[in-house]
This record gives sequence, structure tokens and C-alpha cells, in this order.
Amino acid sequence: MTLTIAIDGPAAAGKGTLSRRIAEEYGFQHLDTGLTYRATAKALLDAGLPLDDEAVAGKMARNVELAGLDRSVLSAHAIGEAASKIAVMPAVRRALVEAQRAFSQRGPGTVLDGRDIGTVVCPDATVKLYVTASPEVRAKRRYDEIVAGGAAADYDAIFEDVKKRDERDMGRADSPLRPAADAHLLDTSEMSIEAAFQAAKTLIDAAL
Ligand code: C5P
Repeated sequence: MTLTIAIDGPAAAGKGTLSRRIAEEYGFQHLDTGLTYRATAKALLDAGLPLDDEAVAGKMARNVELAGLDRSVLSAHAIGEAASKIAVMPAVRRALVEAQRAFSQRGPGTVLDGRDIGTVVCPDATVKLYVTASPEVRAKRRYDEIVAGGAAADYDAIFEDVKKRDERDMGRADSPLRPAADAHLLDTSEMSIEAAFQAAKTLIDAAL
């Protein structure tokens, strides 16, 4: 049986960094499922296709290649916004969830992070973590990241954006963001990434 670690949570909660650390620690393959939504959105934007046509978006989603996903070409704010818009469409979710489930079966084990991994994609995951932090802390982390990259940032605009993304991800009818009943909650508001990793490792070691 393949071991699967499901990591869910809102934008900028630290799940990306945490997932990569965990995958490295256990020698598991990692899939950042947000990239599958971003890649679909970018393909639509690049082709000049509408973001509100479910049949067209679903077809794009079926063509997404997991092997070529790279956050550095998918990180633009406009792509994230477009991704969260098409992520409400059942046809898009069906296609991407199918690819994500196939990935989760790879050996020797997998780490998947996203919004609906513990609830929909991998309901039988070996360990489920729900990683969160207050909207203020998440906005501040994103702000610091942008400033550290040498660009100008507006904290208030980022804060509004974080709240808007939460509302869209938690409020949608298909696969809303919420902790699975059997997920371990990890609030990283007052934790360093290293402390969060140690807490996650303790939970995972107890379950493996
Ligand atoms: O995690 P990231 O910000 O890259 O994800 C972009 C968008 O993709 C999210 O705001 C969310 O709407 C959507 N998403 C999703 N389900 C996932 C992963 C991402 O709906 N499992």
C-alpha cells in the first residue's frame, strides 16, 4: 500500500514549504495541486479563451501534464486569481482530481498539498494535516516574500486579497476548503517553519 500524506489549508499558510520538507524527509514524491489549477488557468489565458466556459476549461484541465508543472512560471497574481475562478467548476475539478489521485498512488509514498486533498482527492490518506494561520500572519508572510524579492508591496491590498481568496475557496459548492474530520490541525501563526515541520513530523511518525 502506498503511503499518502494529505496537506490542506488556505493560501500562504506555509503548506508549500512544509510539504516539500516532508517529502524530502520521507523520500516521497510531492504534488502541489494548486499548480494544476494554475496551469489550467494559464493555458486558457495564453490561448485567449474565456474563464467562464466550463466545457472549454474542463478540456484544458484534461490536457494538463503533471510532469511540467513549475511554480516559477505559474506564480503571477493574475494566474492565481484565474485559477481560483475556474476551480469552482465541477468539470475542471473532475479532470484534475483524477490526475491527482493517479499521482497519489505512486511509490514509495506521496505528499499532496492543496485545498481538498483530505476531503475529496485522498479521503483514505495515511495522515491528514490542515495547516492554517491567521489572515494577518499570512498576508504579512506574503508581503515579506515580495519585499525580499526586491519588489514593492502593499500590505493592505495583500490582506484584502488573502481574505477574498479564502472566501472563494471556503464558499464554493464543489469541494470547499475545510478540514477533513480526521485531519490534525496545525496553526502556524506563532510557529517558525522549522517548528511546524517538527510538529508535522511527530504526527506523521506516530501514524506510519
Ligand atoms: O495553492 P494555490 O494558491 O497555488 O492555488 C490556486 C487556486 O487553486 C486556489 O486559490 C484554489 O482556488 C485552487 N485550488 C483548489 N484545490 C486545490 C488546490 C488549489 O481549488 N486542491
